[in-house]
Amino acid sequence: MLRLTLSPKPKGKAASGSVVDRMQALVAADLAEVEKILADRAASPVAVIPDLSGYIVSAGGKRLRPMLTLMAAHAVGKPNNATHVLAAAVEFIHTATLLHDDVVDESDLRRGKPAAKAIWGNSASILVGDFLFARAFNLLVETRSLEILDKLATASTTIAEGEVRQLAAMNARDLPTEEYLAIVEAKTGALFEAAAESGAMSAGGDKFAHAFATYGKNLGLAFQIIDDVLDYGGTTSVIGKSVGDDFRECKITLPVIIAKRRGSDEDRAFWDRAMNPDTQEDADLAHAVHLIRATGAAEATVQEAEAYAGMAKGALRQLPDSPYRDALIDLADFCVSRAY
Ligand code: IPE
Ligand code: IPE
Ligand code: MG
Ligand code: MG
Repeated sequence: MLRLTLSPKPKGKAASGSVVDRMQALVAADLAEVEKILADRAASPVAVIPDLSGYIVSAGGKRLRPMLTLMAAHAVGKPNNATHVLAAAVEFIHTATLLHDDVVDESDLRRGKPAAKAIWGNSASILVGDFLFARAFNLLVETRSLEILDKLATASTTIAEGEVRQLAAMNARDLPTEEYLAIVEAKTGALFEAAAESGAMSAGGDKFAHAFATYGKNLGLAFQIIDDVLDYGGTTSVIGKSVGDDFRECKITLPVIIAKRRGSDEDRAFWDRAMNPDTQEDADLAHAVHLIRATGAAEATVQEAEAYAGMAKGALRQLPDSPYRDALIDLADFCVSRAY
């Protein structure tokens, strides 16, 4: 399996998984409440809904976004029932976007298992995604906070805009870096931002809401940029998704933008041919991975993610010291260290 060879591994970075484990331990009681809500509220008399949603909800997602909500609440005060309901809504929104995304991206693997659409088909995946989206808004109403409802409604429209913007960019030969970053900020940054910001708000931490919004947005950017580099060198067993999905779909992401910019005329001709669904060949992925490494594009992409992780960490400086704040700071490093 192709692997990224980025060395040396930075010192002091959390080993893969450890900060997520630490966060899970810090918010274990709250997460148990959230899992209960997820299980209860996926219920429906229409059997396909609990079958399909139960399948994806229990397929082993990292629960990063609801953990952000819970950690932000702890960092500024004490989580309450509204925080738990909000965290469940955040995970439902995320799950709905994944159900829709795998149809749009024609991806067959999610969370290390066949994607729901590979089992139930595209239509069921889209419709159950709609159900989970709508259910998330039932839950948000239960928080009794119009501000929180507004944050998540806005994030949801922004995610949809990001996905449509990406779709519209699909046939472009080149994608400006600014447009790539705007898409990533919308499709991924927006939910990380709303999850963290509203988590703080739910626990009375309005004073720190802006800091958490900045943290979440930049963390989301770092996370997605690393996700995009892993598509060219991660392993399926680690990412739980098929490596090379973006390439096969001819989706232009930052590693490609950089490799193309740094490449020779011959390399650019390769990218133009390979990133076209009519002319792409099976063997092209291996050469694409080679070019992304050889031009230093993988390394440069990780450095871009590191810059966003740095901004995320900087936003938490004004917070009172706590194990929650420390873990959130380490989480920013973890998001980047996934690439090593
Ligand atoms: C997947 O997010 C979608 C992206 C933004 C890349 P996660 O990697 O957080 O997915 P799960 O919930 O852990 O499966
Ligand atoms: C993730 O986008 C979906 C959303 C953020 C809505 P991608 O398509 O880039 O992520 P994966 O690789 O399928 O998880
Ligand atoms: Mg996608
Ligand atoms: Mg996808």
